[in-house]
This record gives sequence, C-alpha cells and structure tokens, in this order.
Amino acid sequence: MTLIESETRVSRQRYQRAVLAKKQAEELLDAKSRELWEVNQKLIGQADTLEQQVRERTADLTKAKLAAEAANHIKSVFLASMSHEIRTPLNGVLGMAEVLLDSGLNAEQRNMAVTIVDSGQILLAVLNDILDLSKIEAGQLEIEERPFDLAELIRTTCELYKAKAHEKGIALTLTLAPAASCWIASDPVRLRQVLGNMISNAIKFTNEGEVEIIAELRKHTDKHNDLILSVRDTGMGIPKSKLSKLFQPFVQVDASVARKFGGTGLGLSISRQICRMLGGDMTVSSRLNAGSVFTATARVGHAVAADRPAPADQPAGTDIIAARRWRILLAEDNKTNQLVFSKYLQGFDLDITVVENGQAACDAFARGQFDIVFMDVNMPVMDGITATQKIRGIEAAANRPRTPVMALTANTMVHEIEGYLEKGVDRHLGKPIKKATLLAALADGLAMLTEDRGDATPVMSRTAGDG
Ligand SMILES: Nc1ncnc2c1ncn2[C@@H]1O[C@H](COP(=O)(O)OP(=O)(O)OP(=O)(O)O)[C@@H](O)[C@H]1O
Ligand SMILES: [Mg+2]
Repeated sequence: MTLIESETRVSRQRYQRAVLAKKQAEELLDAKSRELWEVNQKLIGQADTLEQQVRERTADLTKAKLAAEAANHIKSVFLASMSHEIRTPLNGVLGMAEVLLDSGLNAEQRNMAVTIVDSGQILLAVLNDILDLSKIEAGQLEIEERPFDLAELIRTTCELYKAKAHEKGIALTLTLAPAASCWIASDPVRLRQVLGNMISNAIKFTNEGEVEIIAELRKHTDKHNDLILSVRDTGMGIPKSKLSKLFQPFVQVDASVARKFGGTGLGLSISRQICRMLGGDMTVSSRLNAGSVFTATARVGHAVAADRPAPADQPAGTDIIAARRWRILLAEDNKTNQLVFSKYLQGFDLDITVVENGQAACDAFARGQFDIVFMDVNMPVMDGITATQKIRGIEAAANRPRTPVMALTANTMVHEIEGYLEKGVDRHLGKPIKKATLLAALADGLAMLTEDRGDATPVMSRTAGDG
C-alpha cells in the first residue's frame, strides 16, 4: 500500500467516526430535546392546574369576603334600625317621666320619676354608642369640620363631670396649655364625645386621688396643628395584658367591671375610631393600682375666632309662646309621642291640630292656617319630608307666607339633616326630645315667623279658628 493509499484510508475512517459521532450527538440531542419538551409540557400542565387552583381559591375568597361584608352590612343596618326603633318608645318613656316630674310629686314619687329619667338617659347613651359603632363599621360615621373655641369646649366638657367627681371625693383639674387657648377647625361634637369618654372612665375607675385633664396644641404645618388631650387618673389602673384589647368593642378589663360599674365597653373603641378619623389616635399607658393616662390626638385646622353670636341669634325666650293662641300643626303617627308633645305644651293656651301622616298634614295645611308645623319624618302614607315639600308648593301656589316647619326625627346623621333643610325644613329636632328643647324650638320658630313677616303682631289679627 502506498503512502497515499494508507493516508486516504485513515481519513475515511476518521470521516466515518466523525459521521457516527455526529449521528450519535444528534440522536442524544433529539432524545434530550424530547425529554425537555415532555418536562416542559408537564410543567405547562402543572402551571395550568396551579393557575386554575389559584383562580378557584381567589373566587372562593372573594365570595367569602363578599358574604362577610354583606353579613357585616346587614348587622350594621340591623343595629341602626334597632336603635332607631327603640328611640321612638324611649321618647315616650323619657317624655312622660319628664312631664311626671313637673306634676307636683311628693319626695318619694319624685325620686322614682328621677330614676326613670336617669335610666332612660343611660339607655339612650347605650343606643347612641351602638348607633355610632354601626356607623363606624359601615363607614358612614360623618365627621364635620368647623371653627370653634377649643378652650371653651374643653372647659364646658369638664364642667359636665364636676358633680360626679365631687360626689366621689375626687379632684378634677384642668391644665390648659396657653397654645390651646384658641379657636381650631375640627369636629367639636366628636371631640367632646372623645374627651367626655376619657373623663367619665377616669372618674368611674378612680376611687381616690385626682383626675387631671391636660390639653396641648402643637404646630404641625402652616395649615395644621396637633391637638393632644390627655386624661390622667390615680385609679385602679389596667393590667398590662389587657391594655391592647381595651380598644376593641365590648371589651372590659374583666366581667366584674360591668357588674360593678355598668357600661358596655364601647366607649374606648368608638373614641379611638373617632380620633383616627380626625387624623390622630388614642393611646393608653397604665400601671395596676397606680393609675392610667389616656391620650387622644387629632390633626386640627387653624381657625380665627368668630364674634360671639349676637343676642338676636340666641334661642328666643319662651315668652313668645304665651303671647297668643298660636295654631300648631303636629304630624306624628305615634300616639305616645303625640301625647308627650301635647303634655309638654299643656301649660300654654295653644290650638294644636294633630294628624297621623304626611298626606293628612298636607290636607290640613291646604284647608287651614297654621303658624308653625311640627313634622315627624318617618310616617306611613307620606313621609314628613315629602309632605314638607308639598307644603312649600301649597304656599307658593296660594302666595302664602312661609310657615316654619320643624322636623322631628331619630335620624340624626349630618347628611340627612342637610337633606331635610334643603327640602324646605327650617329646623331639626332629634328624638327623644326634651321639653326644654321643644319649647326652645317652638319659640325660635315663632320668632322666625314674626321676623319673616316683618312685624311681631300681624298674625295676631287672625282669629284662632280662621281659614
Ligand atoms: N381610666 C381607666 N382606668 C381603669 N380602667 C379603665 C379606664 N378606662 C377604661 N378602662 C377599662 O377599659 C374598659 C373599656 O372602657 P370603655 O370606655 O370602652 O367601656 P366602659 O366604660 O366599660 O363602657 P362604656 O364606655 O361603653 O359605657 C373599661 O370597662 C375598663 O375596664
Ligand atoms: Mg367608658
């Protein structure tokens, strides 16, 4: 074999080896690719199943969340309507007890009537708390912002608890930082509620020593300040393990609290929620048997001091009620409340027409002449607000002067009241109504009427039964 021939054979062998190796490599690649493809298919399958499972879980969770929200909503609506429904008979209980107190009772009877009023007031406070809680849970608690005198609000709130502290032999002191002696913009009603809750708790859970209220205002930005209200007591204190739970609704330190001190355990939970809605919070530090400090904060706006209301804006005295035999139209479907209304006014010589629904109120108004209308809101046949709108229509059509319409209702949410005023109501009276509140509203309405008509006496020229 020549050299050339042998070289050619070697290269052919090499070539064949290379071809074989390539083929094997290709087969291996093929096999691996197939394996990879299969694994990939399996993964895709698993991912699909996983996605499907996640979708199903999410759907289940969404369904459960919606169901929980719906249940919570139903609970809130139930609580709100229960507390509304209880208010109506409570108006009867408190109203009649108040009338009873005015009826020449002996000392023992008087004590009993006072107990009815006190118990009714406690029931009313519980109802208001439940209503607040249901509003908070439904996201419907309304916060308003208006300018008011902070120092005056704090002083008058403290004033309310002086007698109770004195009765228990506890000193009640107020330390008002100079910076807090000013006007601010916030929700005065809710701030008073928070401060009142803290003070009432401090007095309730302190048997000796003192309760100190400290108010400070710190600059936050050019537009806002931080209001800090602390109430420090030397009372029984709170065990460490209970501190964080106290802000949950219906929680008290232990079961003996309700037995010994009453209360429902709602005050702190509502107060903290209010503080948070006002841009602050409520916190506590306490030592068992040494005392507690509750601190409420709120982000408040700057406000300039408004002028004191002129005497004309003050509630009118009740003299005006006795000035003549005013013609009053009362639309109220509840018999007890009709009775309370007339009993409250029994010392005056008035011409009161009572009707039981809004339609009957419109009919009576169209036929007769009235100086003032008291209108319940929730009534059968036609509600009081629709009736008020119709009354405004009757006045416009007959070119009659505007008659004051005072709404009586247990609906006390800000947007509801604003809605009533927009629809022609002049004033709003929240149930249960106290005698003094009704007399003040009647006097105000009559003053409004005589002012509107530009003379204090023109209505005197009409006889009581005319029209
Ligand atoms: N200053 C305090 N000192 C000691 N314990 C307190 C003090 N304030 C609150 N607590 C404890 O926290 C609990 C919850 O307070 P919260 O104001 O929520 O309810 P309450 O006063 O029992 O009832 P309610 O305020 O609904 O009438 C109280 O029951 C009490 O155990
Ligand atoms: Mg309380």
